[in-house]
Amino acid sequence: MTHQVRAVVARGKGAPVSLETIIVPDPGPGEALVKVEACGVCHTDLHYREGGINDDFPFLLGHEAAGVVESVGEGVTDVAPGDFVILNWRAVCGQCRACLRGRPWYCFDTHNAKQKMTLLDGTELSPALGIGAFAEKTLVAAGQCTKVDRAASAAVAGLLGCGVMAGIGAAINTGNVGRGDTVAVIGCGGVGASAVVGSSLAGAAKIIAVDIDDHKLATAKKLGATHTVNSKDTDAVEAIRELTGGFGADVVIEAVGRPETYKQAFYARDLAGTVVLVGVPTPEMKLELPLLDVFGRGGTLKSSWYGDCLPSRDFPMLIDLYLQGRLDLDAFVTETIALNDVEKAFERMHGGDVLRSVVVL
Ligand code: APR
Ligand code: ZN
Ligand code: ZN
Repeated sequence: MTHQVRAVVARGKGAPVSLETIIVPDPGPGEALVKVEACGVCHTDLHYREGGINDDFPFLLGHEAAGVVESVGEGVTDVAPGDFVILNWRAVCGQCRACLRGRPWYCFDTHNAKQKMTLLDGTELSPALGIGAFAEKTLVAAGQCTKVDRAASAAVAGLLGCGVMAGIGAAINTGNVGRGDTVAVIGCGGVGASAVVGSSLAGAAKIIAVDIDDHKLATAKKLGATHTVNSKDTDAVEAIRELTGGFGADVVIEAVGRPETYKQAFYARDLAGTVVLVGVPTPEMKLELPLLDVFGRGGTLKSSWYGDCLPSRDFPMLIDLYLQGRLDLDAFVTETIALNDVEKAFERMHGGDVLRSVVVL
């Protein structure tokens, strides 16, 4: 059996997305069919539409989603119809070198559905990050479904599927922020603001938010930043040093993805401190640093891919903390929109007032 559902498709490079009817197959072995309830709009969806990821058009966009499992294929035991799940793009394989070494958050071989979803004429769709959830239903590998407490709304739960998890994970998993640490976060969009929240959750004593946009700084402050620095008019490195007794921060999280801001992060940390790069650079960007400084300053330079998260460990834990009132995820849902408003949400991304627009189905 197949299902005909409405979905947001990017047909060609730079062209506005369109609402289309697509065909979703019933789940085969190892797959799950998910009735999507909510899906956030992420920069990566826009990058797909602009042809910045690859040329495998048409894309089925959307990947920060939560919903209910409708049916599962042969051999699926981890999730069952009726389960409320967050979709992830790290369905660990259990077989690759990273998994076998007990580091599944670096899994090199994450699973996606084997069967293809198609347009009505049979053209195969490429689901964004192997998910494709701007759709009433989507087909994924069962391992891409992580069961969480149904008491959280789908709009909030879906956030953990990508950007918010990346930011929180950059602090708690990659940066290993701990009680009493000083942290600076450079760039406070959706990802950086989540890094502020993650640092606060981890017990950081000082959280310095840096951005060039005062709106973003005001939001960061609401979410737990203890200090803010507008680096348009102030030297970020000097300001962070001043706020940390002249030393620099224990952990600096770069959530912009540019060489200039990476350099700021590099010099704004204390000796032997940690830099975490969670912002995603573009292919032409280059970084130049005196090698003697890399050596002499010691410490740790890391990057954080999907917040080094392990969905089965992190999603249920973060939803539980949210339900206990210890993690403000509601603040990230700036607006809820309909399936045919994704293009408008892309336009608003450049504005600066939106942390997340979330499609609710
Ligand atoms: N210095 C400080 N902040 C800056 C600078 C700069 N030079 N340039 C931009 N910013 C700020 C912006 O004002 C904005 O608040 O960085 C923030 C970027 O936020 P968003 O555009 O909302 O992006 P976000 O979703 O947070 O993602 C950040 O992580 O996942 C990647 O591709 C994503 O590279 C991007 C980064
Ligand atoms: Zn693996
Ligand atoms: Zn994303």
